[in-house]
Amino acid sequence: MSDAAFEMDRIYGWQTGLYDVTRAYYLLGRDRLIESLAPPPGARVLEIGCGTGRNLIQSMHRWPDARLFGIDISRVMLTKARRSILAAGGIDHISIAHGDATCFDPVETFGAANFQRIYFSYTLSMIPEWIEALDHAAQMLPAGGALMIADFGDQRGLPLWFRKILRVWLALFHVTPRDDFEPVLRALAKARGLNCEFISLYRGYSFLAALRRPV
Ligand SMILES: C[S@@+](CC[C@H](N)C(=O)[O-])C[C@H]1O[C@@H](n2cnc3c(N)ncnc32)[C@H](O)[C@@H]1O
Repeated sequence: MSDAAFEMDRIYGWQTGLYDVTRAYYLLGRDRLIESLAPPPGARVLEIGCGTGRNLIQSMHRWPDARLFGIDISRVMLTKARRSILAAGGIDHISIAHGDATCFDPVETFGAANFQRIYFSYTLSMIPEWIEALDHAAQMLPAGGALMIADFGDQRGLPLWFRKILRVWLALFHVTPRDDFEPVLRALAKARGLNCEFISLYRGYSFLAALRRPV
């Protein structure tokens, strides 16, 4: 097991049962991201860092014609996701697998080289090599494809004391808000010939972004 996989299992081992209830209050923007996916009929939609499967199940309900895929580095989270997907009647719609966002092989993992929609929801802030993970995903976008991201923002519009407390608390869970998300996304988009949209939410608490490959 890699160090990153071990660390994620250590963090989530005791809290998978509480995860979905507690995160509903502070992983803001996830449903807005799912709404914005708008995949074409029959599209392949991939969540990288799918955790408990919560977003994949919501995506299945919202976009029933899509084929859904998820990877996660934590086997503990994948076990929980498998149970939730089964309970939600999603086993024929959603495939999940173990993988590291920075280097997984999509063909080996799911038998597909590209995905019309790919999303990261509060995952990049947990990956030290997050730029590598983004770039890896960007290479799996076909023409007309979109890569969407929801994550913690720079919290610039919020009081300093709130920002400090939030960051200390997030660090306990191995989460580091990336203050340079927007410039990095724009530079990556330019380098890869993608269009970039970036929307700051709740005074910078979180953001939504989309990188789109022109048709
Ligand atoms: C904060 S959780 C978010 C889960 C889900 N996306 C959501 O919105 O509820 C972050 C997830 O990213 C996974 N993760 C962390 N590093 C990863 C990596 N290098 N590759 C794949 N998944 C990773 C963790 O195991 C965890 O399930």
